[in-house]
Amino acid sequence: MNEVEKVIDETRQGEALMLDVQATPGTRKLFLESYGCQMNFSDSEIVASILKDQGYTTTKDYTEADVIFVNTCAIRENAEQRVRNRLSEFKAAKRNKPDMVVGVLGCMAERLKHKFLDEEKIVDIVVGPDAYRDLPNLISKVEGGHKAVNVILSKEETYADITPVRLDSNGVSAFISIMRGCDNMCSFCVVPFTRGRERSRDPESIVAEARDLFEKGYREVTLLGQNVDSYLWAGGGLKKEILTDEQRANAINFARLLEMVALVHPDLRIRFSTSHPKDMTDEVLHTMAKYENICKYIHLPVQSGNSDVLERMNRGYSREWYLSRIDSIRRIMPDCAISTDVITGFCGETEEQHRETVSLMELVKYDFAYMFAYSERPKTMAERQFEDDVPEEVKKRRLTEIIDRQQIHSEIRTKAQVGKVHRVLIEHTSKRDEDKWMGRNTQNTVVVFPKGNYKPGEYVNVLVDRCTKTTLIGTVVE
Ligand code: SAH
Ligand code: SF4
Ligand code: F3S
Repeated sequence: MNEVEKVIDETRQGEALMLDVQATPGTRKLFLESYGCQMNFSDSEIVASILKDQGYTTTKDYTEADVIFVNTCAIRENAEQRVRNRLSEFKAAKRNKPDMVVGVLGCMAERLKHKFLDEEKIVDIVVGPDAYRDLPNLISKVEGGHKAVNVILSKEETYADITPVRLDSNGVSAFISIMRGCDNMCSFCVVPFTRGRERSRDPESIVAEARDLFEKGYREVTLLGQNVDSYLWAGGGLKKEILTDEQRANAINFARLLEMVALVHPDLRIRFSTSHPKDMTDEVLHTMAKYENICKYIHLPVQSGNSDVLERMNRGYSREWYLSRIDSIRRIMPDCAISTDVITGFCGETEEQHRETVSLMELVKYDFAYMFAYSERPKTMAERQFEDDVPEEVKKRRLTEIIDRQQIHSEIRTKAQVGKVHRVLIEHTSKRDEDKWMGRNTQNTVVVFPKGNYKPGEYVNVLVDRCTKTTLIGTVVE
């Protein structure tokens, strides 16, 4: 693996995690592995909940599993390749245990549908993201000697009534899905095809889930959606497109939802992802500023710094519009951290246009960025309309350039936080030092400090006196 691949590998969308559930004892064992974005990890918690009700417990050892489920991602070619490699590792286990059921869930399942069964002989079940309620039925079909597929996408499913089983949890922070799908059709993106139409979840069920988590000791929730600024709830069954002006004015938008969740308890921190530059309103920013427990951190993917490229990407904003959103954030919340996603080498991207991405990064100086080389995805608008004409080595070189630039900016942003006192929510023991806790400040920067008598889930004030490139180091002050 070269340096560039390694950096990509360590980013959010490339993460893989083995999950373990403390479920009531059952006779059957489930091995569940997730790839892709936070949404997928959150879906795995729904899947675990559905199977727990069927008496399954989970295992971290796939060789002893009765059912192996891989929750997959289709966002880039290499995300899919990783899943295929993993499936070939499961082959030997299945040879030793022929009754073992192997299922593919999530976005890659939705993209490939029945084809998966032909391409990967080991697979017994293919299930799309809106069909998880059907899992028990699909498993019994396989046990009856058939292969099983359900990739039907829904316009309504939000799994609002299912209480997720918190997987691999630190007991402090949890995800809450507030909507599903995406209607944006960015030309490079496979998500609208794999997750279907956008739909918002009933706010009462979101608030109830947040309250329940708080009562169980959780102190941080992250509200998830592909475009949270587009959240809108006007009552059950009322579609956004057909609302009257009055219904729209009375509907609960993202700013109102944020406020409702913030009011659950002042000690419950709220984060959210992902904001979309074309839809992020000042109302949301003012709500963030009003409540201390709404974290001062916004992930605002730019994708490119050039307006022509943005237009071809069908992002719905220009460079100038994006920069004006950044100005609003800085004006309303001067110490808000900002992160982004960038794609290099999109169809037709010239050297000049690439330099505009670099210059935009220079202007914003992001705290953090997830950066990718463009990967053409079947059926997307870009695949049908444009030529993937930037050579691979040029994509990689541009990627290396922006990664190097971002490292400098991250360091500047981290250093600027030294010498101040930060309110930190303690998460768990530091990976590097047994005697230290790791937590985050409101800006999402990692803070490490000696344990003392404190515990995960508690807030402490930490005076930061030094830092590494990305981590703040300090001691608790009363
Ligand atoms: N809904 C979020 C992003 C979801 S996908 C948003 O609108 O920002 C996460 C990131 O993966 C995207 O922001 C984009 O930077 C990257 N990505 C998506 N499709 C890609 C592709 N075909 N090639 C490379 N990167 C891609
Ligand atoms: Fe993909 Fe665009 Fe939707 Fe994000 S907003 S999920 S990039 S289509
Ligand atoms: Fe991947 Fe699907 Fe998320 S394609 S990034 S898992 S929505």
